[in-house]
Amino acid sequence: MTKIERLGVVGGGQMGGGIAEVGARAGLDVVVCEVNEDAATAGRARLSKSLDRAVQNGKLTEADRDAALERLRFTTSLSDLADRSMVIEAIAEDEQLKTKLFADLDEVVSDPDAILASNTSSIPIAKLAGATGRPQQVLGVHFFNPVPVLKLVELVPSLLTSEETVERAAAFATEQLGKETIRAKDRSGFVVNALLVPYLLSAIRMVEGGFASAEDVDKGMVLGCAHPMGPLRLSDLVGLDTLKAIADSMFEEYGDPNYAAPPLLRRMVDAGLKGKKSGKGFYDYN
Ligand code: CAA
Repeated sequence: MTKIERLGVVGGGQMGGGIAEVGARAGLDVVVCEVNEDAATAGRARLSKSLDRAVQNGKLTEADRDAALERLRFTTSLSDLADRSMVIEAIAEDEQLKTKLFADLDEVVSDPDAILASNTSSIPIAKLAGATGRPQQVLGVHFFNPVPVLKLVELVPSLLTSEETVERAAAFATEQLGKETIRAKDRSGFVVNALLVPYLLSAIRMVEGGFASAEDVDKGMVLGCAHPMGPLRLSDLVGLDTLKAIADSMFEEYGDPNYAAPPLLRRMVDAGLKGKKSGKGFYDYN
């Protein structure tokens, strides 16, 4: 099976940046495509900081950090992804934007065997595949935040994805990136978010209803269930805008009120309170 040697990542935010980081650390040549120069500069700075932290923690030598940085290139032009053997899309959780991007990637990526993957949590892979002329090579490859730390990758074939594509993506995730995989069908939320999102939304409803404070809900789950962080802090980490977008997709898919974004979550997003990435959500990060 041909190994992935040239990885493209579209979107250099917390997920895309994390995917690019693990790819470069695994020895891949990585090109990250961002919307504009400012976003590219910010993405590179975040990635550099994360690599520096790994050096400080004794997980990476300075030479390996420098080599990883050498293998990473940021661009604002999608055509720089032409020679990639795999492209992972990690842009905003917006179906229209993603569908358009897959149509553009299909035009740009010249290797007929290239895999076009999405890091979506909830948008149907079949819709993204349908925007391309190679649906058999499109699948969901869903990472978890923080990508350098969390071991899981969900592999999500659509009804049209070939078994060879899934096997290549599985080998890429396990043998090249050192992750563990699970497979899920192309249904919104896959395995992890189908379970996690209703839990996070329930916690938000508890706070919204004045039932308990965010601090106490989190303390309850950290000390009572040994979770590494409570649901409100985790919502802030995921990003409240992203959580709302995932909830909206899942509600559209299942029509189940457990997936409906509570008004408090909607109002926080309207107010620009997006969690850790914006400096404020249920907690203050400034
Ligand atoms: N990049 C690289 N390494 C990081 C990191 C990052 N962004 N954040 C933390 N780490 C590393 C630290 O260096 C540290 O490593 P060592 O133990 O070797 O020193 C380790 O992770 C633990 O970090 P900290 O001591 O700083 O803090 P912590 O113990 O509180 O852990 C955490 C932080 C890893 C984020 C942990 O709280 C955790 O795992 N939380 C749950 C995260 C989770 O559930 N994520 C899934 C979200 S859902 C999703 O992503 C999918 C979706 O579609 C919404």
